[in-house]
Amino acid sequence: MRNLNEENITAEVIQRFADCSDTRLKTLINSLVTHLHGFIREVEPTEKEWGQAIDFLTRTGQMCDDKRQEFILLSDTLGVTMLVDAINHRVNSKTATESTVLGPFYVADPPEAEIGAGIDDGIDGEPLFVEGRVCDEAGQPLADVVIDVWQSDGEGVYDVQKPELDGASLRARFRTDAQGHYAFWSVTPSPYPIPTDGPVGQMLEITGRHPFRPAHVHFMLMAPEYETLVTQVFADGDPYLDSDTVFGVKDSLVKDFELKPAGQAPDGRRLDKPYRYFRYDFGLKAA
Ligand code: BEZ
Ligand code: FE
Repeated sequence: MRNLNEENITAEVIQRFADCSDTRLKTLINSLVTHLHGFIREVEPTEKEWGQAIDFLTRTGQMCDDKRQEFILLSDTLGVTMLVDAINHRVNSKTATESTVLGPFYVADPPEAEIGAGIDDGIDGEPLFVEGRVCDEAGQPLADVVIDVWQSDGEGVYDVQKPELDGASLRARFRTDAQGHYAFWSVTPSPYPIPTDGPVGQMLEITGRHPFRPAHVHFMLMAPEYETLVTQVFADGDPYLDSDTVFGVKDSLVKDFELKPAGQAPDGRRLDKPYRYFRYDFGLKAA
């Protein structure tokens, strides 16, 4: 086919994929071409603008290595990550916990810790005690569920962002006991900006968006025969709950990080200064 123009080029591009034997791939490409051409028809970019778009994507790729994934950050900040999450983790019951974005600071296989242990070795900050139960959708407690937790410190910085640190800090792996209970001590996290030293940071800046996430603690729960749950618990009252730069906040994941006076904590530990406390009970969906 020759003499392609604005009207007929989309159909011809789709036709070129007609022999693709992978039907799912063919569906994906047909839709991609349709929507991409539709976008171009709608906005009618100048050649200079299209060049800038290519340059932005090139720089996004060049920013990626085994530690930094700028394309995921782009997906996060455009709401695509949360849309994919919403489609793949529809919650139909009141008892299953909602999921949210994984983020770039998860490290697989963190050090194992005993229930009730502190994950804040050598970290200054306001003490935080977290506990709860893990149940199935029928409310039966689940024993031996693997719970990976990770979070920023009180300045909004993760261990992997501290080159001087050797090893894990404010991250650990717990296993629920026979009653499905878990607990740990930590420090209260704070809101923080996502990494802004790349093209995604420039995009946020140029478009007048802030880069902040509300304070949160990350959880990943894994148990045989249950769907892995990737989620976060957010601090109620945080100024960024309604404008999380990666669109990850859900009401069911917001908890009061209660300020408690010095004295005896729920696990019997005596605190000589005020501390914060939240309880979060998780519900896992059968796989
Ligand atoms: C995080 O919560 O760790 C995070 C999520 C998405 C992008 C950047 C950070
Ligand atoms: Fe985070």
